[in-house]
Amino acid sequence: MHLRENVTYIEPFVGGGAVLFWILQSYPNIKRTIINDINSELICTYRVIQKRVNDLIEHLDSIQKQYLLLDVEERKNYFLEKRSLFNSKACSDVEMAALFIFLNRTCFNGLYRVNSKGEFNVPHGKYSNPKICDKDNLLAVSNLLQNVEILCGDFSLTEAFAGENVIYYLDPPYKPISETSSFTAYAKTGFNDDEQMRLRDFCMRIADKGSVFIASNSDPIEESGVSFFDYIYNKFYIKRVSATRFVNANPCNRGCVSEIMISNIVNAYERL
Ligand SMILES: C[S@@+](CC[C@H](N)C(=O)[O-])C[C@H]1O[C@@H](n2cnc3c(N)ncnc32)[C@H](O)[C@@H]1O
Repeated sequence: MHLRENVTYIEPFVGGGAVLFWILQSYPNIKRTIINDINSELICTYRVIQKRVNDLIEHLDSIQKQYLLLDVEERKNYFLEKRSLFNSKACSDVEMAALFIFLNRTCFNGLYRVNSKGEFNVPHGKYSNPKICDKDNLLAVSNLLQNVEILCGDFSLTEAFAGENVIYYLDPPYKPISETSSFTAYAKTGFNDDEQMRLRDFCMRIADKGSVFIASNSDPIEESGVSFFDYIYNKFYIKRVSATRFVNANPCNRGCVSEIMISNIVNAYERL
């Protein structure tokens, strides 16, 4: 499947946008690109990068100058103050986006995790010289985002665009592969097995409307020996791929892990 010029590309769980930015650079003439995420602070950051990148750079540069002058203890206190301000949401969009990037660059392992109240709760990470304001990268990202439509909400919002010549890449929070590996708290609502099945139903509907979808997920095998995703996606094609993971609470689960790619067309991944 070559991404022709008349194709619409949709990413309903955009997160950090690894695939999005690859697509935008590899297929600059794509007709329409739509991204979405339920995380309103993340989407605010994308919108600020798209429309007000110079104001953002000015703000981040000032935060970086202040932070790098501090000693270890002062940096931790500064981080905690900014984290509280971020969680209070009592600031402008540009300030919110700057805080989002600052916290991502200075928190433990660059994780994003929230508690049941939806508050960002990742602790301070001790990096000696973090690049908080990467001006060239922000300008390049802003340039790539100029024609991207940015939505904020549940993935189901993007069903309205399903049809012929529409490709969805879905990278939802993964199903934990074990009790201890649980990490689906990107949002206070979480993403449990019912949500995975709601997503499967969504995939069936967009496929019925003529869209192509590719979804990634973990590859958990239940105690019964049955694979959850082979079972719930039995009408579609599943390919197992080996992926490298650097972030995991359990060091044994870092490195190469098996993941699955699900699609309604055969060998979709090789044809991209
Ligand atoms: C696995 S991450 C996506 C990673 C992304 N592909 C990347 O390259 O960084 C999952 C994303 O889904 C978002 N999310 C969780 N529940 C959602 C929902 N119901 N609707 C839309 N987005 C959701 C999270 O905020 C998170 O950004």
